[in-house]
Amino acid sequence: MDKILVLDFGSQTTQLICRRIRDMGVYAEISAGDAVIDTADPDLRGIILSGSPESVYTREGESPDKKIYASGIPLLGICYGLQRMNYDMGGKVEPLPEREYGAKTVSLVEGALDGVAEHNRERVSSFLAAFAGDGGGPESPSDGFTSGKSGGFTAWMSHGDTLTTLAPGFREAARSASGYTAAVVHETECWFGLQFHPEVTHCQKGGEILSAFVFGVCGCGTGWTMEKYARETGEGIAVKAGGNTVLLLISGGVDSTVAGALLLKSLPPENVHLMYMDTGLMRKGETDMVERSLLKLGARHLHIVHCEDEFLGALKGLSDPEAKRRAIGDLFITIQEREVARLHLSDDYFLAQGTLYTDLVESGRGVGKKAHLIKSHHNVGSPLVDAKRKAGRIIEPLERLYKDEVRRLGRLFGLDEDVVRRHPFPGPGLAVRILGEVTKEKCDILREADAIYIEELKKRRAPASREGRAAGEAGGVSLYDDIWQAFAVLLPVQSVGVAGDIRKYGWVLALRAVTSADGMTAGVYPFPAGDLLEISTLITNSVKEIGRVTYDISSKPPATIEWE
Ligand code: XMP
Repeated sequence: MDKILVLDFGSQTTQLICRRIRDMGVYAEISAGDAVIDTADPDLRGIILSGSPESVYTREGESPDKKIYASGIPLLGICYGLQRMNYDMGGKVEPLPEREYGAKTVSLVEGALDGVAEHNRERVSSFLAAFAGDGGGPESPSDGFTSGKSGGFTAWMSHGDTLTTLAPGFREAARSASGYTAAVVHETECWFGLQFHPEVTHCQKGGEILSAFVFGVCGCGTGWTMEKYARETGEGIAVKAGGNTVLLLISGGVDSTVAGALLLKSLPPENVHLMYMDTGLMRKGETDMVERSLLKLGARHLHIVHCEDEFLGALKGLSDPEAKRRAIGDLFITIQEREVARLHLSDDYFLAQGTLYTDLVESGRGVGKKAHLIKSHHNVGSPLVDAKRKAGRIIEPLERLYKDEVRRLGRLFGLDEDVVRRHPFPGPGLAVRILGEVTKEKCDILREADAIYIEELKKRRAPASREGRAAGEAGGVSLYDDIWQAFAVLLPVQSVGVAGDIRKYGWVLALRAVTSADGMTAGVYPFPAGDLLEISTLITNSVKEIGRVTYDISSKPPATIEWE
């Protein structure tokens, strides 16, 4: 299968580059910026060098494996990636007097093709063709950007350095309105560079330019489909597991449920053990839903461990968020070891987890190592997982997928939409959504309020005017599907209210709803006020312990999505 490799030099948008390419049906993966590259890999069609917060002239500015320059593999440098290529090839990169940030008009330079060698012309002109034409792209003029109909388009810049001398062979192909080099091509090599970020949706032409590189320059075929992934991964799992037992730890979220489906489709169900802990910190109806969907998939050995009392006991008296997380993590490990021992599996069993590609990137395991320092890895490693990993007996069937690809795979397996569309849920569950001490009573109050909130989001339509949705979808999407993650938080505050003529103190509930691509950054969901007001009334009418409802209007950063 054709593949594009994205070298991660630390930009926050490295993941986005990879996503955009996969969305075109082409497999893309991320490697650390300084990784040793197997340039003889027959599937490798092109390499993209990502952006970076560093500068090429500082010690921190990483270099790619120099082999790539002699490999003949097409290269595309984006932002730092372009500067890196220029610098490595003998050009000059210097700081700008003022950082160029945000929307900037970029125009092609006349005669960019002059001097490009005959053998390179076709590819260079197919790449530059994506810059020309009228505006296009995902943005509309109502975004406040120029439409770019004449003499350029709106690109997205974020750089403090610029190319001041081009390395031999590079030619300036486009320039920003401020007069800085915005794109380069090479006279003889299949090398391209962009100072702007085509992966960002606010960049007009961004999709066309990436697609011109992937298809026009690299000649990739579209082989990345979920059907193919399911087939190939399933075969791989069967070979790896041999006839051994595989134990999958299920959290109740989409990822582990889809991982369960993949195991059950690929292995004899007799060999698949599924274990789920009901910690008492789950959402309303969650345990039943998990049980139902796994049985429907043909699970034979489903171990549901009811351990609410143990978790609530461990949390008793704790109100410090870190202490709560630690107590939960420790207890998870204890119960996991105890329950796994109870299954009496033979020593050589495999352990499976629903790890995603983003989890791998965050933990730096084998893929990019710089991109996501913003989000520390939340979940505590368990000695069992570590031991199995050391012994090479771990199966992570979703490790090459992003969240929405996992959802597509879940649909392919016929999982219920309710499971597939489920918003992410943190490992420590409601414990990080009940600020302060966690009690059973508070869990029940929050579960009830959260269920009303979520149910209403599923029933109500998103406003047709919401940006970022395909035109055909306008008005046809529920609020729930339009929101990346929504939940309620119970605050450790009681506030005064009136019921009849009596003053009473009720808990304060905060509603959270965010837009996001991957949880790394998040925006506040621009709720229609009417929906919020009605949902608030429904909650206070139905959950008598709650006296007041607020809406959290903080983006990430500086806030995080969860409250603790
Ligand atoms: P934050 O709160 O860090 O959350 O902005 C980003 C995403 O991660 C989820 N999250 C967790 N997931 N264990 C998890 O498995 C955790 O401890 C945890 N804390 C936060 C959060 O729900 C959001 O989707």
